[in-house]
Amino acid sequence: MDPTARVTMSIDALLARRRALLGGNLSIAYGHPLHIVRGSMQYLWDADGRRYIDAYNNVPHVGHCHPRVVQAGQAQMAVLSTNTRYLHELILSYAERLGATLPGALKVCYFVNSGSEANELALRLARAHTGRRDLIVLEHAYHGNTTTLIDISPYKHEGQGGGGSPAWVHVAPLPDLYRGAWRRADVGAGSQYAAHVARIIDGLRASGTGLCGFLAESWPSVGGQMSLPADYVQAVYQMVRAAGGVCIADEVQTGYGRLGEHFWGFEAYGVVPDIVVLGKPIGNGHPIGAVVTTPEIASSFDNGMEFFSTFGGNTVSCAIGIAVLETVHAENLQAHAREVGRHLLGRLHELKRRHALIGEVRGAGLFLGVELVTDRQSLAPATRAAAAIANHMRDLGVLLGTDGPFHNVIKIRPPLPFTVQDADALVEALDTALAASATA
Ligand SMILES: Cc1ncc(COP(=O)(O)O)c(C=O)c1O
Repeated sequence: MDPTARVTMSIDALLARRRALLGGNLSIAYGHPLHIVRGSMQYLWDADGRRYIDAYNNVPHVGHCHPRVVQAGQAQMAVLSTNTRYLHELILSYAERLGATLPGALKVCYFVNSGSEANELALRLARAHTGRRDLIVLEHAYHGNTTTLIDISPYKHEGQGGGGSPAWVHVAPLPDLYRGAWRRADVGAGSQYAAHVARIIDGLRASGTGLCGFLAESWPSVGGQMSLPADYVQAVYQMVRAAGGVCIADEVQTGYGRLGEHFWGFEAYGVVPDIVVLGKPIGNGHPIGAVVTTPEIASSFDNGMEFFSTFGGNTVSCAIGIAVLETVHAENLQAHAREVGRHLLGRLHELKRRHALIGEVRGAGLFLGVELVTDRQSLAPATRAAAAIANHMRDLGVLLGTDGPFHNVIKIRPPLPFTVQDADALVEALDTALAASATA
């Protein structure tokens, strides 16, 4: 059946059905919701046939419905879809290829079905290896939707409906060099933020509790499309290991070449984690999550209790996962992200010179953030303007979202086939939306 042939209902009717049938706390993007029925590479089409530039969705990493990925999934689905209880070449080939992208001893793979499952599993590995539970995470972080992951996600448990951090979760300040306690102009800002982590570790040592590990996104995304100071990450990794803990890098948002200069976010800081957590882009829309770790940690986890995920590592997922990785390499998407990202960043800096609403432009490759403020001195977040601009951009045919603790950071994370022409169209639309917002 042609998927577009099912389109018969109005937006209002679809919304009413959705409200009746689905949980009320599922959010929907934009004041005028979109009814998207088709995608190809960096474009989406609505039910009226209007095309949108997708600068929002990082899950279709190599492009919506990329033919190579679709073909790999269809072909394998027609032959065999089964689980890890049988020998099969595909899972081995996938693990080998994934391991080849990672440094050092990061070679042992576990496959699951989402970023949440992968973070859950990473916690189990860390606990099995250290025999401890206390974890350090970053302010505003989000790591997934399960009960335990809400506990380690301040973005959720500190917000509406949240119950705060449990005693075993220690929240360190996000080293935000734009609006945090120490900023770009402050000498030793990275060390100041690291000193806070040192104090948490000292407290755990003094109480006799000990540390299980440090879990953080290499480039905090929900926190507002940030990078971290390299000296901070290096110092924290060193302190965590000295305290017997493990370093877990959540690369669910930033891995696989999106950053342009680096295939993995942590590479920007010259560190190597003990456990790497993968999700979103690695399946290009097919639900794949993965955890990659060292033989030593894997051996601690191999403690007699079987690990099994019914769908994790199934043959179809592995065929798709391999096709995604091959496409990233075959189409030079990392270098493409670097070049297009550089162009876009330059054009966004030009916009910043003309629009007082832009406080900061940041990011790398096709992981960019535009932080909006009502006043460049006080840095008061322009939250309302950010929402209005995202809605205006949607009307102009470019899909973007907002992020950050104040929802005032325009996030730009398109599928990697996004071109210089798409970037120019985005900038022109953003110019229009910023100008309209200034006069509103
Ligand atoms: C950094 C990070 N980690 C983990 C997750 C959870 O992934 P999933 O929604 O696939 O369970 C997300 C989802 O947004 C995320 O942004």
